[in-house]
Amino acid sequence: MHMIIGPGAVGTVLTAFLRHAGEPVRLRVREEDVQDLQGSSHVLVDRVRGRPPVRVAKPPMSTQTDFDGVETVFICVKHPDLPAVLDAFPADIPDTTTIVPCLNGVGAAQRIRQRFPGSHVAPLTVMFNAQLLEPLHARISTKPNVLINSDDKALLGLFGTSGLQVQRVHDEAAAWGKLLINLANGICALTDTTFHDVLANPDLRAVFVTLLDEATTVLDKSAARYHLPVGMPYQAYRKLLTHGGNGAWWLEKYRHGLTKSSYPSMVADLRAGRPTEIDELGGEIVRLGQLVGVPTPANARVVKMVHAAEAAPHPTPMSARDLRDALA
Ligand SMILES: NC(=O)c1ccc[n+]([C@@H]2O[C@H](COP(=O)([O-])OP(=O)(O)OC[C@H]3O[C@@H](n4cnc5c(N)ncnc54)[C@H](OP(=O)(O)O)[C@@H]3O)[C@@H](O)[C@H]2O)c1
Repeated sequence: MHMIIGPGAVGTVLTAFLRHAGEPVRLRVREEDVQDLQGSSHVLVDRVRGRPPVRVAKPPMSTQTDFDGVETVFICVKHPDLPAVLDAFPADIPDTTTIVPCLNGVGAAQRIRQRFPGSHVAPLTVMFNAQLLEPLHARISTKPNVLINSDDKALLGLFGTSGLQVQRVHDEAAAWGKLLINLANGICALTDTTFHDVLANPDLRAVFVTLLDEATTVLDKSAARYHLPVGMPYQAYRKLLTHGGNGAWWLEKYRHGLTKSSYPSMVADLRAGRPTEIDELGGEIVRLGQLVGVPTPANARVVKMVHAAEAAPHPTPMSARDLRDALA
């Protein structure tokens, strides 16, 4: 039995593909969400790229974090909710249970290992982009694939031939690479734009390059390896962003199947007045920069501006030019 904690966009997608692969799943939900979730009899994932949807029967739900007989625990909540999730864990995690944090960035696995030393933790990096349309109904706007940092063959094979591709990774390099690309999320949130806008608008591309220049300098100084999901070294990707017109967009479109309407959930979080994960993306770069003595003024400014927007009752999106000027 596998437990999915958090029936949001990622939790719904993983539930659907696991069930499609014939795996038994239990959804761990919050008391206050039970009523909303009871309305649907199935879990549905639409695929934007012309593939048929994945539709499976709704698995049993529980409001308890009980690891009895649970092989794998997929944590699919956002960072602000992680402490509450971990507070509900038993003090001793059974040796037969593997914890799979699916949150953005690299911080969640570190926090779990610190809090539950000796537990089996296998970080999963979500490479797809998904939105929740209604309870237990999500839409994927890219190819469905994930990376898992583990040698556990059973875990790596869980999704079988369901259509969700699993790639095995051996260190945090891919997670850092994904974090670098996710620095675009703060840009999208502040300007209320899509990934396409960031890669096609010259002002937003320039902002992205500024954030990436700082972040890669920090990672190089701290000797943290990173592997960009775009499949090329940073200097080549930088050239594409600065001199390649819309080339970076076409690369994303064909490599990951990104569509023009794909946007990071940080945009939706800000619109809905929810706290964002900016501290675990740009904030992670700022913290590491302080540790290794590399200044990160542009990333720090974006983190500060996103927090200011979180606190505003009705945040007004900035123009691309204004954001570029603010970071100049
Ligand atoms: N969506 C994507 O395309 C994508 C891509 C890459 C990485 N990620 C990462 O994946 C993580 C999850 O993102 P998401 O988009 O799936 O977020 P989401 O749609 O907001 O889903 C999170 C879900 O967790 C629920 N939840 C919160 N606390 C809980 C608790 N204590 N017990 C049970 N359920 C709880 C939330 O319920 P409420 O709605 O009631 O709060 C919500 O249903 C994030 O770190 C995100 O950055 C997402």
